[in-house]
Formats: sequence, C-alpha cells, structure tokens
Amino acid sequence: MQPVKGFSKWSKDAKIEWVANEFTQNPTKTIELLKSYFHSDAQTQQLHDEFIENTLSNYFLPFAVAPNFLINNKPYCVPLAIEESSVVAAAAKAAGYWQKRGGFKTNIISTTKIGQVHFIWNGLNKNDFFSFFESIKHLFIEETDPITKNMRQRGGGINDIFLVDKTHLEPGYYQLHVTFETCDSMGANFINTVLEELAKILVREIQQSSLPISEQEISIIMSILSNYTPDCLVRAEVSCPIQQLNEDDMDPQQFAEKFYRAVRIAEIEPYRAATHNKGIMNGIDSVVIATGNDFRAIEACAHTYASRNGQYTSLTHCTINDDLFSFYIEIPLSLGTVGGITSLHPLVKLAHEILSYPNAQELMQITAAVGLAQNFSALRSLTTTGIQKGHMKMHLLNILNQLEATDHEKMLIVEYFKDKVVSHSAAVDIFCQLRGISHPQWAEDKLRS
Ligand code: MEV
Repeated sequence: MQPVKGFSKWSKDAKIEWVANEFTQNPTKTIELLKSYFHSDAQTQQLHDEFIENTLSNYFLPFAVAPNFLINNKPYCVPLAIEESSVVAAAAKAAGYWQKRGGFKTNIISTTKIGQVHFIWNGLNKNDFFSFFESIKHLFIEETDPITKNMRQRGGGINDIFLVDKTHLEPGYYQLHVTFETCDSMGANFINTVLEELAKILVREIQQSSLPISEQEISIIMSILSNYTPDCLVRAEVSCPIQQLNEDDMDPQQFAEKFYRAVRIAEIEPYRAATHNKGIMNGIDSVVIATGNDFRAIEACAHTYASRNGQYTSLTHCTINDDLFSFYIEIPLSLGTVGGITSLHPLVKLAHEILSYPNAQELMQITAAVGLAQNFSALRSLTTTGIQKGHMKMHLLNILNQLEATDHEKMLIVEYFKDKVVSHSAAVDIFCQLRGISHPQWAEDKLRS
C-alpha cells in the first residue's frame, strides 16, 4: 500500500471510502455502518467531526445515571459514561446503601495545579544563578499579567515560581516549577501558555544578564503542565456503626473485618492494589468522561499518587475504631467545569445540567464519592458473594446480544438466571436449548465471530 499524502485535508467521504476499500472486506457495508452512526442533525455532526482530526463517524458509549448519591447531605443523580457492564449497577447499589447510612462526606483538601519549564544550564556558579533567578522573579509575574488577567479576576493565576536544581539526576538539568490556581477550569491551556511565556522571559533575561558570558547559555527543553497534581486533593468518606453493615449471609462484625482486610491487602500488595484501584477508576473515569474531562490525565495522576511513597498502593483506606467502620479515599482530581468540551458536547452539557452545574470543587467531591462507592461495591461483592455473580448477571445481555437472541429469548433467559449463577457456558446451553439447537458449536462460533 502506498503512503497517503495530505490525508487530513481529504473530505470526510474520501477518507471513509479509502478506509473502507483499503482495510475492510465489505466496503459497502463499512460505509453504511459508519454513516449509520452519524448524528441526524448536520450541525451536531459537524461539531463532533471537529473535535478531532480525520473523523469518520461517532463512537458511542452508553450514557447512564446512578441515582441516590447523598453527598454532604445533598442528593445527586450522577451521570456516567462507560462500556463495562457492571459499573453503573455497582455505583448505584453503593449509593443506595450509603444513602441509608448517612451518605458520603467529602471535602476539598487543596486545589493547586503544577507546570514546569525544563531547561539545561551548564554554568558553574549555582549560587549566583539562584540569586539571579530571585532578582528576575517579579518579571515572570509582571510580564505574564496580560495572560493571567482573566484568571486572576476569577481568583486564580500563578501562585509561585521556584527554581529547582535537578543536576544530581541529569547534568545541567533545572526547572522552573510553577504552581497555579485555575479555579473552575482544568487549566491545561492556561498553564501551558503561561509556561511558554515564562521560558521566553527566562532566556531573554539570562542572555541580557551580568552573569559571565559562559553562564549565559541556556537551552529550554520543554514547557508543559504536570498531570501529577498531588496538591489538588479531595477526600470522600463513608462511615457507620458496624452493626449497620448488615449482609444477607454474614455477621456485620465479620463483614467489617473482612472488608478491612481486603483494603489492607490492597495497601500492601501491588498486584492487588492495581486491580483495586482499577475498580475505583471505573467509577471515577465514568464521571470524568460524562462531564467532558480528560480521563487520561486523571488516570496518570491517580496512579502516580498511588506510588508516591515508592510502592504502588491503595487509593482507599479503611479503619475500624471500636464499633465505628470508616472507609475513605483521598485522591488528586484535577477537574474542570468550564473550558475544554464542557460547553460544546451536547451530552457533556447535559451531564453538568443533571448535576445542577457544579463548580470544579463540587465536581471533584462528586467524582471522589463515586470512586469510593465503586470500590465499596467491588469489595462488598468480593468479600461476600464473589464478584462473578453480579458481574455475569450484567454481562448476560452482552452474551445474548452476541448470540443475536431475540427480545423474547432474552427475557426468558434473564428470568431463568434470576436465581442461578450466570456463566458463559450456562448461557450458551440454555440459549441452544431454547432455540432447539442440538450442537452448541453454532453458538460457540457466533461468540467467537
Ligand atoms: C472490574 O472492572 C473491577 C474489579 O476487579 C475491582 C476489584 O477487584 O476491586 C471488580
């Protein structure tokens, strides 16, 4: 295949045809499929087309809600966008459970964002370099005034700027480490714009300085925000007397102790911590995606934070004091409620409306509560019935859809599994029985196709 030239400038139809013809077995069907996902309103479709480059169509994710979240005594119905079968059910279940036990208590610990200018300076006189930095520090603030004006009017801006010596790690490596307050925006564009300006000021000032000529050389490597924001921290907690932790087949004390152990294992065992935190992120990412935030940034930060003491560990913690059971999360969540696609994507706008237009701090608290809820549900299942019971119940419809079961067959099979454990093979068996297919090979092939 020849390399394509200027692909991004081709028309959407030309791109679709090329992909269909070059890479798929049935181009007509491919084109039909891609077009069947177009939005019926041309303007809305264009909006989606222009979010990214080379758009062919739209990629749907289910958009759901988990009702009954009681957070700081305020009820919320939380929008979630996710493909995994059991996530919304788990969030909703934990929300209902804790609603009856006082709800989630959340608070913001800090809201600082971070950006860095990474540069190389090979001068010898570090003391003079640091004094020089202190003497020009005011220029960084003054000369970025026009860029920071709007943010300052909203109560944000540059908090502080530090010169950091990293030469023990890499020859000549220094940073301008800059802390920011970005109010209701996640702040990536604002921070990056400011940093690039700071880099220019630094270069200009050092070249015009009275430092010896040999010390006036500087090479800016890059200027970029850090997605690690350990000081943009939120806490969410649930707690109740142990006696209120009633489970069907387990004594509350035994449940509390098993639950506590499950969290302890995630605290001390990285293999478990990864899965434990993945479950937390199931909930967090769902809110982050639904509200138009950057889930990659949130993921990167969460996992860096989970390793901050040198070993990857749990993001949630559990305590049992006398008869009081407490379960909490502390997690950095750099979220925005303005900027990005928050005022563009129609469903993102709806998500904010459903949440009654929270500001960034409120959204951090809602999101942390959903992460904690998700983890509570997962650990509750894991330490009692096992995870597969609920998970496979939710996955059953995926299996039946793969088998192309009719609505009536689905209804009968869901009913059949009401009091039974769902497994892949059991679902195939009952489906074949119902259809009168003697050999399950057909169904197995279908599931593999
Ligand atoms: C599955 O997506 C998430 C869980 O594995 C989380 C956990 O094990 O805690 C259920």
